[in-house]
Amino acid sequence: MRVLFTGIQPTGLLHIGNYFGAIKNWVELQYDYRSYISIVDLHALTIRHDPKQMPEQVFDLAVGLYACGIDQEKTTLFIQSEVPGHADLTWIFNTLAPLGELERMTQFKDKSARNRKNVNVGLLDYPVLQASDILIYKGEIVPVGEDQVQHVEFTREIARYFNSRYGKTFPECQARLTHTPRITGLDGASKMSKSLGNYIGLMEKEDEIWKKLSVAKTDPARVRRTDPGNPEICNIYSYHKVVTPETELSDYIASGCRSAAIGCLDCKRRLLNNLMKVLDPIREEYGSLCGKREYVRELLDRNAEHCRAVARQTMLEIKEKMGLTAVWKI
Ligand code: ADP
Ligand code: TRP
Repeated sequence: MRVLFTGIQPTGLLHIGNYFGAIKNWVELQYDYRSYISIVDLHALTIRHDPKQMPEQVFDLAVGLYACGIDQEKTTLFIQSEVPGHADLTWIFNTLAPLGELERMTQFKDKSARNRKNVNVGLLDYPVLQASDILIYKGEIVPVGEDQVQHVEFTREIARYFNSRYGKTFPECQARLTHTPRITGLDGASKMSKSLGNYIGLMEKEDEIWKKLSVAKTDPARVRRTDPGNPEICNIYSYHKVVTPETELSDYIASGCRSAAIGCLDCKRRLLNNLMKVLDPIREEYGSLCGKREYVRELLDRNAEHCRAVARQTMLEIKEKMGLTAVWKI
């Protein structure tokens, strides 16, 4: 089976952008690939974090992912910092990574502009650690949202540099996107993101979600209730597309919007209804897993042990190729 690898930062809650842009794909693909998902706590250190909250955030993310349908029989879900090989390989790849390219990465430019007081080397080196995550398991398929495609392309380049200098070792991985690789935030402008506060949380209360939805941006040209709308430029319609069944979507939502038979608030209520149908089972499973701390901890421990063994094997192969373990062979 080909290897799938992906990662997610434990930087707070999960939102519907994560779910429809990435996690849903992980759940579907886990049956076709040898699947690894890492909770990338080392990546999360590149922005200021609270050491006291970190363990809870990691646990909460693990529970959230299992609740979304990550199957412990099919996917190896583990905590990045529990597998030292990732950081080891990062150093090796650092010696191959072109500085100019790292400086040109979109995420580095965005994050360093937003955190002017904390432009640390880790922020620049972030894609190299990501390449190490993927390649230490010889990952080929990397399911992510659109914002991560550049990092996956960079990983492919690092694999190429290594292979051409030290001999064929790594596969050339590929990003795998969902049909909705970029979910827009409630502001109707930027990508839905924790840091921008324009999100709907997967575990948020229904009335909180309604509060946010009721004031969320719609088709800007539809000013009065009686104006016909254009679903294709309405952000609310883009959410409908991921949760509303096909016939309701075309016969009621899209045509009702065009003819002004339904208003924006009715449309948003329908959306809330359909969204809750997706979220309710996830929340139920989340609630039940939150009470099983020991069980989840044991799964993560066992998975980290497996990953350490795989990572160790790759590191031995690499070191051998690079002449790093050969002292006693002279
Ligand atoms: P955030 O951007 O909110 O901090 P993460 O960086 O933890 O989220 O992203 C985890 C996964 O979810 C990644 O694969 C990322 O590409 C995907 N993702 C995040 N936000 C979105 C979005 N708005 N639309 C589609 N995919 C997204
Ligand atoms: N950078 C990714 C994000 O912010 C998380 C990540 C870390 C990742 N390592 C990875 C994703 C390896 C895919 C593969 O979402």
